[in-house]
Amino acid sequence: MATWLEDQWKSGDSTIDTEHLKLHEMIRSMTAVMRNDPGTGLAQEAVDVLTERLRIHFRMEESLAAKANPEAIDTLKQDHQRLLRLLTPVRDAVQSGSAEKAKSLMTDFAEQLDKHDREIDIPLFRK
Ligand SMILES: [Fe+2]
Ligand SMILES: [Fe+2]
Repeated sequence: MATWLEDQWKSGDSTIDTEHLKLHEMIRSMTAVMRNDPGTGLAQEAVDVLTERLRIHFRMEESLAAKANPEAIDTLKQDHQRLLRLLTPVRDAVQSGSAEKAKSLMTDFAEQLDKHDREIDIPLFRK
């Protein structure tokens, strides 16, 4: 379960908490599109839309952190880049028609994002 859906992990900042809830809704629906694509190319579009949505999310966090916590910005940026790179093999698997592989890579991605949330975002943005 996504960290941000658990009350104990709320940061206390409503902008950040709402943004994470929306992001995780988006991840759930794009993952469902990927899993249910009967080969129409929708899965590939879903990975691209998800990647773009994550970029927006990361930019927002980085600009908030630049103001509030500039010494943490390098770690935050590096981990965001690492997470984005995990989506490249997902896209490759989708493109080559390896649905099972894409599914397992998406599970890995979700776990890594969850770890990022707990270890980096929450300590950084908690009020
Ligand atoms: Fe983050
Ligand atoms: Fe985040």
